[in-house]
Amino acid sequence: MTEAALNVEARTMRVPIKIWRYDSATGERALKEYVVDAPEWVTLLDVLDIIKDQQDGSLSYRKSCRMMICGSCGMRMDGAAVLACKTRMYDIVQSGHVPVISAMGNLPIVKDLVVDMQPFWDKFHAVKPWLQPGYEEPPDGKEYIVSQERMNPIHKESLCINCGCCVSECNAMESDPEFLGPQALAKAFRFVGDPRDQSDVDRLEDLNSEHGIWECTRCYFCTERCPKGVDPRDSIAKLGAESVKEGIDRDLGAKHAKWFVTSAKTTGWLRETELVPKTQGIVSAIKETRFAMTLALKGKVPPPVPPHVAQDVEESRKLYDLVHEQGRDGAAGIVQGERGIARMEYLHETSGEEPPDADG
Ligand code: SF4
Ligand code: SF4
Ligand code: FES
Repeated sequence: MTEAALNVEARTMRVPIKIWRYDSATGERALKEYVVDAPEWVTLLDVLDIIKDQQDGSLSYRKSCRMMICGSCGMRMDGAAVLACKTRMYDIVQSGHVPVISAMGNLPIVKDLVVDMQPFWDKFHAVKPWLQPGYEEPPDGKEYIVSQERMNPIHKESLCINCGCCVSECNAMESDPEFLGPQALAKAFRFVGDPRDQSDVDRLEDLNSEHGIWECTRCYFCTERCPKGVDPRDSIAKLGAESVKEGIDRDLGAKHAKWFVTSAKTTGWLRETELVPKTQGIVSAIKETRFAMTLALKGKVPPPVPPHVAQDVEESRKLYDLVHEQGRDGAAGIVQGERGIARMEYLHETSGEEPPDADG
């Protein structure tokens, strides 16, 4: 062994860690502390392996690939979902913090860090995660080829490894366990956005049902915790935009979204006082009158008449017209917006140029 290799081997650290142990058979639950000596490069999964190997063979957790591919090792560290094989321990140990490891949320615990993934897979299957082809087969048995450019909008959704970290953190699933949830909805967009799939409208109809896309509270926890950059909240926004584009707007959430656009286009401003009558109807608005008056008296909402018009309203009108002229309704508009913002940020960072205005 070389001297360099020996030096690498010599660099070890003492890793303290707490783990919530649980046995669903007995209902026993206990927070146990462990301390292991481990190389500085260890991940959380390596630490669990050392504990299981050297201190307590009954510790239960899932793993397989050890390289962020299989999605088996999702668990919580200090209350936030992580992939154990992606989580390096060095900085945590150096900070003096003792992390608390527990099973993922929103899924029943079987034992220690192992959760029952059946509810996860049930929702996954509910969105029909397979291609329903709607394209003409090329003549002579040739392969139907889709350009990379047309597949790019669903590239990040294709990176999902079904780890469940997003589901673990989902606020909407906590209040409604029947909510389809971020993973299933990201998978649904994977097929709604696939140019080869012919079931877009049927899929969107299903996703607009109870427990569907509009139940999302937009907390962005799924996006924050996803270890693969899938950004499920973005996928849900695109499913909402596609639904409105297809005229599937029966849900209150869709009506809200449509009113936001109308309000921004006409006054460059979200006119909250008109939100309830425009989206929930006049009866609901009358029921909320007293609440609205209280808000108005406290200066929390502006009076509806005359409508407040933002100084730069022309910019939001131009943006609205641009999106329509270019036929960028639905998810394509969101993709275009993302690219535009990325380009502006890039220009700003690399050249110091000011971002372009609405004309630009
Ligand atoms: S943004 Fe929506 S889907 Fe994502 S965690 Fe929050 S409530 Fe769940
Ligand atoms: S979307 Fe991200 S967090 Fe959710 S299951 Fe897929 S890879 Fe895991
Ligand atoms: S062990 Fe496969 S993703 Fe962590």
